[in-house]
Amino acid sequence: MEVVIVDTPEMVGIVGADIVERVVRRHPSAVLGLATGSSPLSTYRELIRRHLADGLSFRTTTCFLLDEYVGLPPDHPCAYLGFIAREFTRHVDLPDNQLHAPDGAAENLVAACDNYERAIAAAGGVDAQLLGIGTNGHIGFNEPGSSLASRTRVKTLATRTRQDNARFFSSLDEVPRHVVTQGIGTILQARHLLLVASGGAKAEAVAAAVEGPVAAILPASALQLHPHATVVIDDAAASRLRNGDYYRQTFADKPAWQTL
Ligand code: F6R
Repeated sequence: MEVVIVDTPEMVGIVGADIVERVVRRHPSAVLGLATGSSPLSTYRELIRRHLADGLSFRTTTCFLLDEYVGLPPDHPCAYLGFIAREFTRHVDLPDNQLHAPDGAAENLVAACDNYERAIAAAGGVDAQLLGIGTNGHIGFNEPGSSLASRTRVKTLATRTRQDNARFFSSLDEVPRHVVTQGIGTILQARHLLLVASGGAKAEAVAAAVEGPVAAILPASALQLHPHATVVIDDAAASRLRNGDYYRQTFADKPAWQTL
């Protein structure tokens, strides 16, 4: 696992964008896995800037979202399909029909989950998957206790996750109780995992994911099983790492992410 510790959330975005840009420039038809929530916003802002300033193009890429709320119509302001369009894809040249999200409004959610798995496979799998991390260690919406081999399915949100995400809704009651999420097994099949996090509220989860035992109780620890996972965090999110000085030293000696 590559652990890159930078000073600020903005720097997290710059390093995150460097990694995504490298994938897209190398493979213009790359398949990108996108996360929603606050953590990847600085990365998306930087990618938009590079699209506008340097012509970085997403025209031939395909994007798959990690997850979607169950029961929200796709045009609901909090639905993740709308969120990612507002925060990223609408501002670059990705054609609408190349952006995919799990269908949380489907009548048959089981079939919708299977279809989503098939769509990712038909696209050739994900080249680079952006991830945030929940304060409870979730990735996607794979809450603690999720099988490390899980596939796309319906999950019940943990109370802590609903509380964390209530800031996007007008009240806690409005936060859906269920989601459709790619499974941990699905996520682990992406060829490169890129987890971004900033702020002290993530420090404990980051330390457990990077340095703790691999365990279903801390879903992000599954990244330790992946041959190519990069964790880009700011100083605050790195503050509980026992081995932080070593990661800083490694990065200073040879910025590993530059060789990706
Ligand atoms: C969202 C997702 C979640 C978030 C996580 C962190 O698509 O997959 O795992 O990445 O809940 O959320 P923020 O970044 O808002 O703290």
